[in-house]
Amino acid sequence: MQHDHPSAERAQPVAKSGDADVRIAGVAHTYAVVDGPVLSGIDLTIAPGSVVALIGRSGSGKSTLLHIIAGLIRPTDGAVRIGGQAVQGPSPRWVMMFQAPSLFPWMSVAQNAGLGLRYAGQKDGAAERVADVLDLVDLASFADRNVQDLSGGQQQRVALARSLAPSPDVLLLDEPFSALDMFTRQSMQTDVRAIAKRLGLTMILVTHDVSEAVLMADRAVFLKSGAGVIAGDTDINLDDRARNADDPTFDAELARLNEIYTGLQTA
Ligand SMILES: Nc1ncnc2c1ncn2[C@@H]1O[C@H](COP(=O)(O)OP(=O)(O)OP(=O)(O)O)[C@@H](O)[C@H]1O
Ligand SMILES: [Mg+2]
Repeated sequence: MQHDHPSAERAQPVAKSGDADVRIAGVAHTYAVVDGPVLSGIDLTIAPGSVVALIGRSGSGKSTLLHIIAGLIRPTDGAVRIGGQAVQGPSPRWVMMFQAPSLFPWMSVAQNAGLGLRYAGQKDGAAERVADVLDLVDLASFADRNVQDLSGGQQQRVALARSLAPSPDVLLLDEPFSALDMFTRQSMQTDVRAIAKRLGLTMILVTHDVSEAVLMADRAVFLKSGAGVIAGDTDINLDDRARNADDPTFDAELARLNEIYTGLQTA
């Protein structure tokens, strides 16, 4: 993908997602009583159209919280509302993208990208919508290709197109770039932020990589292992042009967040 001409800045007739806030109130979760709570007393309100990074060490409950927001796990306590609607299960309005793209190898790129629409029961205009989202992720020329012939980064873009096709309000990402090489990862990070901003998506991104948060997020929320509580919450006020590792303000922001993160481990 070319950085001087990101697809997200091109004028395309892609349906805009509705701006939706995410309200997490009093969420707690226990898998097994003997293990104790994985999350407790999570209160978090996420502004519509913003990108929030959930940062924490392995086992701190990041994926659990994301699954609860996605309606894939019912919390032991508390509730999540998205755009005013109570989350009681999965929905095409809030979609999750996983680390592994989980595509169907016997289907073409376009067929895979259209699966979300099929599940959402949106048949009308599906072909045009698939063409639009493939264009958005820069895979228009790959529409008829077999997904097996694509690189890992391209497959991840197909998964992104599939997630975006039903025009969700909220996109939930659970370390979706961690299997990619550094350069592919960086271009995905930049592009996905640009796409989210362009579509007005509210995005929640789980990561244990602080630099990924500084590249992509407007706000970082830190989860502390053990107790499973929010132990830090800070805005990332960086101009999009400064969101690259060569920028001095990026370095300063990275150092500031790293300090917060390190402080949590020792506190
Ligand atoms: N299905 C499950 N049943 C029982 N315990 C679970 C289950 N899923 C996760 N856990 C436990 O809950 C805790 C939090 O797990 P979770 O997957 O949310 O952490 P995470 O922050 O996403 O970690 P990682 O960075 O390694 O992905 C861990 O102690 C884990 O062992
Ligand atoms: Mg996880």
